[in-house]
Amino acid sequence: MMATIMKPYLVSFLLAFLIFVVISPAIQADLVENFENLYGEAKGEVSEDFNGVKDEVKSVFNGTRRILRRAPYRGPCKATNPIDRCWRCDPNWAEDRQRLADCALGFGRDAIGGKGGRFYVVTDPSDDDVVDPRPGTLRWGVIQPEPLWIVFARSMVITLKQELIIQSFKTIDGRGFKVRISGGAGFTIQNVNNVIIHSLYIHDIISTNGGTIRDSTTHKGLRMRTDGDGIVVFGSSNIWLDHLSMSKAVDGLIDVVQGSTNVTISNCHFTDHNKVLLFGANDNYMPDKGMKVTVAYTHFGKRLVQRMPRCRLGFFNLVNNDYTHWEMYAIGGSSGAQILSEGNRFTAQNAHEETREVTHRASMNENWKSWTWSSVDDEFRRGAFFTTSGNQHPDLTQYNYGMIQHAPAHMVTEMTMFSGALGRCRVGRPC
Ligand SMILES: *[C@@H]1O[C@H](CO)[C@@H](O)[C@H](O)[C@H]1NC(C)=O
Ligand SMILES: *[C@@H]1O[C@H](CO)[C@@H](O)[C@H](O)[C@H]1NC(C)=O
Repeated sequence: MMATIMKPYLVSFLLAFLIFVVISPAIQADLVENFENLYGEAKGEVSEDFNGVKDEVKSVFNGTRRILRRAPYRGPCKATNPIDRCWRCDPNWAEDRQRLADCALGFGRDAIGGKGGRFYVVTDPSDDDVVDPRPGTLRWGVIQPEPLWIVFARSMVITLKQELIIQSFKTIDGRGFKVRISGGAGFTIQNVNNVIIHSLYIHDIISTNGGTIRDSTTHKGLRMRTDGDGIVVFGSSNIWLDHLSMSKAVDGLIDVVQGSTNVTISNCHFTDHNKVLLFGANDNYMPDKGMKVTVAYTHFGKRLVQRMPRCRLGFFNLVNNDYTHWEMYAIGGSSGAQILSEGNRFTAQNAHEETREVTHRASMNENWKSWTWSSVDDEFRRGAFFTTSGNQHPDLTQYNYGMIQHAPAHMVTEMTMFSGALGRCRVGRPC
């Protein structure tokens, strides 16, 4: 069904693109380099099973619901999970920022980001020139060939004119200030490795037109319109996304696709969004069988709808996350994705009995019964339930390097209480 919806769009896009290339000699040499970003029908997938709740899903975005927040914690610094304990309550954290690179756990544990490289300070929040960005801008930093540890001179809002294409061996470290990426394009981590993104607010991300964008000091390329994702990890490995607050992107918050692997998403706080995390975009893209992603110590919060995550083909370890809101489902997948859920807490919303199920399989037949989906020491509240399937005692040897030892699910509130960007963290004080 999706194929018939996508095709006219694809065809007209291809035509427009061909005409564009033919009549525009100036850019003839450029290839559209995110062409594959139309990664298949799956991105536009609508779950047929949920007709009954669609109206409700729409209504949660009216913005009329009262926003309830956990009261901010004002006590002495507490590091409540193994990643945070590695660095957070050291008052001198800013004197050794690169120590953070040793703190990752899960499949992205080897991500070193810009460790060993120089520091680069973003002083200029503008993004006017995506072909020749000015020194001082975030865009200038992320396209450099050398390892860089990127920090910020002050709190700022950066509205990206086009997607921010990040090179290998970069850390974007928002600690010390409130740094928002908002109102424009999101981040693209494409065909690179070793990227760490830490403590940023990323929200209200829109679809941008595309055009010529510099992605390295030696190369600029023609990019087509983006879907409006917060962060796309495409064909990349050793990626760590930690302490991000993300909400309201036009498409997904984070996509991990096209053969990406060794990725950890931790300590994040997601709210106000429909399609949250997409791991693998195409049921037939076999390199995704090697995809390994960890999601840990993350709070899936207010007004989320589905895909926390939505998985295909690979191996996915979900550890000690707090799921407090899902309007459709929390964990979904297809094509034999292997999902190991450990020590998570799932709290169903009372509104719809039919959405108390945590899991959702996109499967036309009974194939899903052989997919290994396991729930180990998870806690279920208000009628939430997880439908397991497949071999409940699989051989995990090949995944051992990235498995996180889970804590009991009752500790999840504590472990996720500092999830999201650390906007009150200041230099010279415990974070
Ligand atoms: C949201 O808007 C729709 C259409 O305008 C309306 O029917 C619905 O009642 C609204 N929901 C809330 C929660 O206000
Ligand atoms: C992922 O990490 C493992 C363990 O360090 C390593 O053996 C493997 O080569 C990595 N894969 C990629 C694509 O980097």
